[in-house]
Amino acid sequence: MSERTLVLVKPDGVERGLVGEVISRIERKGLKLVALELKNVDRQLAEQHYAEHDGKPFFESLIEFITGGPVVAACVEGSNAIAAFRQLAGGTHPVEKAAPGSIRGDFGLEVQFNLVHGSDSPESAARELKLWFPDLGA
Ligand code: CMP
Repeated sequence: MSERTLVLVKPDGVERGLVGEVISRIERKGLKLVALELKNVDRQLAEQHYAEHDGKPFFESLIEFITGGPVVAACVEGSNAIAAFRQLAGGTHPVEKAAPGSIRGDFGLEVQFNLVHGSDSPESAARELKLWFPDLGA
């Protein structure tokens, strides 16, 4: 079944020039870009996006990091898009969880600087896409 997911190339990925690499992997997998935007993230959007992590020890540094430079936000569509992108991204920790061959496994070292974000469920995808792409519709 076709579904949509939110993908972010985080400030570390943009800074390191990995936007093309990430988009290329998305396209080669067979997923489609529905929307794509380079965006500076304000504190309000960052806190809403990461609301589930509010109160965790790394919350403040996560908010500072994601607001510290532009991100590339994409709405990505296709069959099983949510799981498909999470497979492309690899596990949250680039060394301890992400396998070589995944984006994080190939390019990352530290959990905070893990290059990309992908929605983790249909509910998260709907919530996050509404936040990042309010004009896109359902
Ligand atoms: P993401 O998939 O965007 O979802 C939450 C983010 O929090 C995660 O990727 C990491 O960038 C970050 N994160 C998770 N655990 C930690 C941690 N222990 N220390 C710092 N950042 C973390």
